[in-house]
Amino acid sequence: MLRPLEAPLRHLFGPGPSNVTPRILAAGSRPIIGHMHPEMYEIMNDIKKGIQYAFQTENNMTIAMSGSGHAAMECAVFNTVEPGESVLVAINGIWGERVAEIAERSGTSLLGLQTPYKKGRFSLIAIEKHKPVLFFLTHGESSAGLCHPVDGIGDICRKHNCLFLVDTVASLGAAPIFMDKQNIDILYSGSQKALNAPPGTAPISFNERACHKMFNRKTKPISYLFDMTHLSNYWGCDGKPARIYHHTGPVSGFFALRESLAILAEKGLEESWKKHKEVAAYLYRGLEDLGVKLFIPDRVRLPSVTTIAIPEGYQWRELLSYIMKHHQMEMTGGLGPSMDMVIRIGLMGYNCEKRNADMALNAFADALKNCKKTKA
Ligand code: GLV
Repeated sequence: MLRPLEAPLRHLFGPGPSNVTPRILAAGSRPIIGHMHPEMYEIMNDIKKGIQYAFQTENNMTIAMSGSGHAAMECAVFNTVEPGESVLVAINGIWGERVAEIAERSGTSLLGLQTPYKKGRFSLIAIEKHKPVLFFLTHGESSAGLCHPVDGIGDICRKHNCLFLVDTVASLGAAPIFMDKQNIDILYSGSQKALNAPPGTAPISFNERACHKMFNRKTKPISYLFDMTHLSNYWGCDGKPARIYHHTGPVSGFFALRESLAILAEKGLEESWKKHKEVAAYLYRGLEDLGVKLFIPDRVRLPSVTTIAIPEGYQWRELLSYIMKHHQMEMTGGLGPSMDMVIRIGLMGYNCEKRNADMALNAFADALKNCKKTKA
């Protein structure tokens, strides 16, 4: 504790957090104000507008969680299901596994729907067959590098009186999502990926159907901190004249999130989606030129996080340590079900530039050349 704080400069080219732009860093370092000051409410109103734009929704019940994307994930499940109800979870990587566990801990009867990575898409017959109250899907599965199509699923859920919950932590701003048009009932994301804000805040939005279900429960949600009756008041979404103390939100984190959403609005979603697609395609070509294999078929690849099958004969940990040591660059291994199967490169938001793809390719080529190849 008697030494000065040290935080090295690194190229954060993993699945997040990604590097934060100077403008967002500056916003986060502004003097603190009270979390219930009128100026803070203005900033929270701006955040709400920014999330509505990023999600393409007009939902009034749109807020940012005090916590990571995981907080939003738990908030979504805790508020919309009650013990004894049934939840269907599409599992195409770690995030589906997590939601399955959260739903189970909430006392629901759980149905897991697995799909092989290479297939990419779920069969949706299970929604019709099991009629769950909630269906969960990860749009941008960062552990697999997979972007699951969303069109049409919301309509099926609606037909069977089921809420459609979608995770866009790794895909928001990188791949198109239209909450209202695609009939998504609950959508959440995180601050630290393509939005380039520091980790610790998480946008979430509920439409009228979701609000109807969560505000007409027989039981209280198991979490006090994530209870939307309190959070909707904290964010001024419940129509009540006064906001009552619930918890102290991360003031600096909200400053930074506001700025990151402002940057996305200035740039425009279309432009951001296009850039991620172009830079990802450039990275794919470069990796293929190095002779490595991409893990996910082209048609369902996530533009923000690329997964590479571990090159034959190499130890993935050795490759990644080499890249960190010699290039001050983070790439990561797999997570959950993709552990020991892939190496992940993330180029998101501010980091999504061809020059960064070149840097990543150069570092990867250097590691392939200098790390020991074990004989088969
Ligand atoms: C975290 O979000 C990860 O994908 O590693």
